[in-house]
Amino acid sequence: MKIGFIGTGNVGGALAKALGSKGHSIYLGTRDLQSEDVLNLKNQIGPNTSIHPINEIPSKADVIILATPWRISEGLVKSLADQMSNKILIDCTNPLKTDLSGLEIGHTSSGGEVLQMAAPGAKVFKAFNTTGFNIMESPVLESRKAVMFFCGDDKESRHIVQDLIKDVGFESIDAGPLSAARLLEPFALLWISSAYKFGLGRDFAFSLIRRKN
Ligand SMILES: NC(=O)c1ccc[n+]([C@@H]2O[C@H](COP(=O)([O-])OP(=O)(O)OC[C@H]3O[C@@H](n4cnc5c(N)ncnc54)[C@H](OP(=O)(O)O)[C@@H]3O)[C@@H](O)[C@H]2O)c1
Repeated sequence: MKIGFIGTGNVGGALAKALGSKGHSIYLGTRDLQSEDVLNLKNQIGPNTSIHPINEIPSKADVIILATPWRISEGLVKSLADQMSNKILIDCTNPLKTDLSGLEIGHTSSGGEVLQMAAPGAKVFKAFNTTGFNIMESPVLESRKAVMFFCGDDKESRHIVQDLIKDVGFESIDAGPLSAARLLEPFALLWISSAYKFGLGRDFAFSLIRRKN
């Protein structure tokens, strides 16, 4: 698939490398076409990668992966809303307060739903927000796949999102409509607070255990 990235830092970089290694065409969107970090990322992924200004990403890609700081995400998506019409937009952001003490949005809405309102024609999914980028780089721990929940309203394209999550190496679980981002965003905060406040560090992930009988 043609996968465009808006945000090529920790999360965007990890996912671009993982999906590039599976043969997808990767379009890296950047504010600075000469950025050393982005050029390095392109070199690490290989010949199926190209670098573009951010505003060209929606027209290049079938799927857009958004991995930017929350504070600028709504405005950025709004500015690209027309080009994003009918595109799958995978939102990896978390609407974190700047001191990580909580979420700016919750209970009655979510960051994912705010972005859907910013780009009403896009098919917004929430995914890749509930674990660290280091786990996205290597999602199998002690022989078990980490779990990645996703949600979104578009019925026809959810299998595409599911397959991309599997391509990265996660167990992929459909959590339902986009309003389930109200659950996935606090779940991300649980990972963050466990990692940073409660001593687990970044090298752990949530996984599912099923009873076989
Ligand atoms: N870090 C994690 O483990 C993790 C895990 C799950 C979800 N998340 C969420 O994913 C998002 C990205 O996190 P990250 O750790 O990948 O951040 P990051 O490493 O700081 O990368 C942020 C990316 O956004 C770009 N960016 C910043 N401001 C921009 C603007 N005004 N316009 C366009 N692009 C802009 C940056 O480009 P420049 O290089 O040009 O600055 C960079 O490519 C956040 O919402 C975070 O909450 C993070």
